[in-house]
Amino acid sequence: MKFDPVRWDKGTLTIIDQTQLPTRLDYITLDTLDAVWDAIKQLKVRGAPAIGVCAAFGVLVGIQQRQPATLQAARHAVTVIADHLATTRPTAVNLFWALERMRTVSVSGSDDDAPTRYVEALEQEARALFEEDQALGLAIGKAGASLIPEGAGVLTHCNAGGLATSGHGTALSVMFQAQKAGRRFRVYADETRPLLQGARLTTWELQQAGIDVTLICDNMAAQVMREGKIDLVIVGADRVAANGDAANKIGTYGVAVLAKAHNIPFYVAIPRSTLDFSLPDGSSIPIEERAAEEITHGFGLQTAPDGVAVYNPAFDVTPAELITGIITESGILTPPFTESLNPSPPEQVAS
Ligand code: MRU
Repeated sequence: MKFDPVRWDKGTLTIIDQTQLPTRLDYITLDTLDAVWDAIKQLKVRGAPAIGVCAAFGVLVGIQQRQPATLQAARHAVTVIADHLATTRPTAVNLFWALERMRTVSVSGSDDDAPTRYVEALEQEARALFEEDQALGLAIGKAGASLIPEGAGVLTHCNAGGLATSGHGTALSVMFQAQKAGRRFRVYADETRPLLQGARLTTWELQQAGIDVTLICDNMAAQVMREGKIDLVIVGADRVAANGDAANKIGTYGVAVLAKAHNIPFYVAIPRSTLDFSLPDGSSIPIEERAAEEITHGFGLQTAPDGVAVYNPAFDVTPAELITGIITESGILTPPFTESLNPSPPEQVAS
């Protein structure tokens, strides 16, 4: 089944409302900046690459709404809109990276350009981001597919699938490509408390693709590993620091520790746009904290007493030493990541 998590068609931004899955596949139109902001904040669109692409189109939605009369007004509007969209979710670097690309286009070009030419350039950039993201997802899948042998058991956490990107996914793209290569395997999907991206989204996507998927609660992963059912773990990430420390959905770190304890390889699949070389390690990756109600009143059902104290970090950081390899569009990178992640390692200086 083909679905479009984010679609830009004739100036209209449409997304799948992921909060309604798996029971309803609803496409909603985001025709105001507030609607885009809210959709990202409420996880109607979620997953690091999809947030970035949606925000890029969100800049266009904001511009359409404001209809700036002059180039100067348009440039100012892009800054204001991008600043606003940047306040939605702090952890996924793709959001800031995509907005930065829109800002860069916004200040380039000639001062004599008409505002319409300027908006065309912004639209071209947002479309390029979308198309690049699709190509990257496919390349990540192809780069990692050989990691999944016939008959393997693969564990994943959260949703790093087509829904989280512009169509192919990252961790799930590896699975889709392994399936395409003719191999059969079983995926164990952690349900991913508290918002259940694994239960609601990953199982749905894998079912659609005809991949054998089994849902487990997060706290079952250790037992399933001990039973010998897992040969490898593949997850996505929202931000990877220069040393390979990887922020991903809360619970990922625990899975990595378990994988280490059971001698199971643990892979992180990302486009290079998820790398943040400005951070030497994961200790300063901003971790989003979300509302207590997501835990106390998950999906409308009260499951904790009124007034209980709650801590709800939405992400955690898996230390690089627990990561066997990072699957990117340019291949599977292995430790030490400080070297393998770097696009152009400093040349050896002859002494
Ligand atoms: O809070 P979410 O659902 O946006 O979190 C998403 C994840 O943690 C994904 O694993 C990550 O963004 C990788 S998506 C290819």
